[in-house]
Amino acid sequence: MPAKKKPAAASPSFTLVSVPYLSLSSVNILYIGAGFVGACSAAVSADSGHHTLVYDVDERRIAMLGSGDRDTIENCLFEEGLGDLLVRNRERIEFTSDYRKVESFLDTCDAVFMCLPTPEIGETGASDLSFYNKAADRLARALARRNKGRQTQAVVIVNKSTVPVVMADRTAEMLRKRRVRNFGVVSNPEFLVEGKAVSGSLKPDRIVVGAWREKDFAVMRRVYQRFVHAPGIEYVEVNPKEAAAGKLLANFVLFNKLAICYDVIGRTCEAFTDLQFENVRRILAGDPRIGSWGLYNSLYAGGSCLIKDARSLSAQLKEAGKEPLLVNETYLANRRQLLGFLDRAEKEAGFSWAGKRIALLGAAFKRSTNDIRNSPAIDIVRVLSSRGAAEIRIYDPAAMDSFKVLFPPSRKIKYLPNEAKAVDSAEAVIIATDWPQFRGLGELLRELKGRPLIMDGRRMLQHFYPDLRKAGFTIIAVGSAKMGVRS
Ligand SMILES: NC(=O)c1ccc[n+]([C@@H]2O[C@H](COP(=O)([O-])OP(=O)(O)OC[C@H]3O[C@@H](n4cnc5c(N)ncnc54)[C@H](O)[C@@H]3O)[C@@H](O)[C@H]2O)c1
Repeated sequence: MPAKKKPAAASPSFTLVSVPYLSLSSVNILYIGAGFVGACSAAVSADSGHHTLVYDVDERRIAMLGSGDRDTIENCLFEEGLGDLLVRNRERIEFTSDYRKVESFLDTCDAVFMCLPTPEIGETGASDLSFYNKAADRLARALARRNKGRQTQAVVIVNKSTVPVVMADRTAEMLRKRRVRNFGVVSNPEFLVEGKAVSGSLKPDRIVVGAWREKDFAVMRRVYQRFVHAPGIEYVEVNPKEAAAGKLLANFVLFNKLAICYDVIGRTCEAFTDLQFENVRRILAGDPRIGSWGLYNSLYAGGSCLIKDARSLSAQLKEAGKEPLLVNETYLANRRQLLGFLDRAEKEAGFSWAGKRIALLGAAFKRSTNDIRNSPAIDIVRVLSSRGAAEIRIYDPAAMDSFKVLFPPSRKIKYLPNEAKAVDSAEAVIIATDWPQFRGLGELLRELKGRPLIMDGRRMLQHFYPDLRKAGFTIIAVGSAKMGVRS
C-alpha cells in the first residue's frame, strides 16, 4: 500500500528552462483533451521542462491554442496567464489533431494524461464516459503497436478527468483487453479553479497521486518534480480509488458549504429585516473552524464540476447500496436557490416577467472565465422566455460568443456591447455573474430615467442598496429581505 509523502525519486538539479527535452529529469507527456484542464495542465508541464504533446479532436481549438499568439489562445480559453505560459514555453509544447503524431510520440512517451469531458448523462447522475472510453480505446490500440509492437517503452496512463472511484482499474482492464503491456494506471485528480487555473496550477495547494505500484509513483514524481518538495504544497500519495473518491468528496464538501450559505444563512437574512448578510458573514467567518470560503451569497453554484460531481457521487453511493440523502439535498438546495430568486420578483415585488425588457448582466458561470457550463444565465433565459419576457438584453465581458451558440441573437435575445447599453430601457436588471466591473453599476443605474427592478444575484451592489432604495429603486438581492417600495 502506498504511503503518504514518499521521498521523491532523485532529481536534484531540475532547472526550469534548461534544455529539458535532453535533460534526464524531464519526461515526455501526452495530453488527450485540450479543454480547461488539459490545456492548463499541459502548459504547466511544459513550463516544468517536460516535452509535451497535446492532442484534441477539436481542430479549431488546437489551431487557436497552438497559434503562438497570446490573444488567440485566450480567446479560445479565457484563463489568465494561459497565453503567456504557452507562448513562453512554445519550444516544449505542441498541439495537434493528427493522431499519427500521437502514435509516433508513444514510442518515447512516459505518461498520458486523460483530460476528457465526463458530463452527467441527462439527469441520471451517471457519468457519460463515452468520450473517455473512445479516447482510451484508440489509445490502447496505438499503445499495443508502440515500439513496432515490442512495447518496450513503459507508460503511465493518468486519469485527470473526474471519473468514478473504480475507474483506474477499469482503464487497466480496457488496456489489457487490447493487449497493452508495460503500463500502469494512475489517478491524479485535478483541483483547479477556473479563472485561476494557471496561477493555481503553478502553485497548487495539493497534488494527489493515486497508484498501485511504486514505479508509477516514481514516474509521477518526475512529472511533478518541481512540486514534490515545494514548501506549502501537499504532495499526497494514495491508492487510485482513494484519489478518485477524494476528488468527488472534496467537491461535495465545497458544494455543501455553498448550499448552506444559500439555503440557510442567506435564507435567514432574507427572512428578517435588518439582517445584513455581510455582518452575519463576518460573525461566522471569524471562527476558523467555519472559515470564510464559500460564505458569499449567490443565485447559483454553476460550472462544470460541483453539480455533476455531486450527482455522480450520489449515483455511485446508490449503486453501492447507500442512501445519499445529504448529497441529494445539497443538489436540490442549489436548484431551489435559482428558481426561488427569480420567483421573488413576482412574489415580493409584484413584478410579472411577461412582456418585459430584462437586462441580464453576466453569462459566464462566474467571473474571470468564458465558461458557461451550468451557468445560471442559461436557466434564467429559459425561465424568463417561458414566462413571456419580451426582450432579454445580455452583456458579458468574456462569454458572449459561447452564449450566442446556445441562444443565437433574435428579436427576443439581444447582445449588447456593454452594461450601460444593456440596462438602457430595461424594466428589470438581473446581475447573474460576479464580474468586478458590475460593482460600479450603482452609479450607472442611478442616472437612468426609469427605475428598473434590480435583481442582484451576487450582492454586487451591496454598498449602493441604501442609496438606490432612497432613489426609488426596488431591490431584490440574494441574502436580503426585499428593499424598496414595490409590493
Ligand atoms: N473545468 C474544471 O474546472 C475542472 C476541474 C477539475 C476537474 N475537471 C474534470 O476534468 C475533465 C475535463 O474537464 P474540462 O473542463 O477540461 O473539459 P472541456 O470540455 O473543457 O475539455 C475537454 C476536451 O476534450 C476534447 N475531447 C473530447 N473527446 C476527445 C477525444 N476522443 N480525443 C481527444 N480529445 C477529445 C474536447 O474536444 C475538449 O477540448 C472532466 O472530467 C472534468 O470534470 C474539470
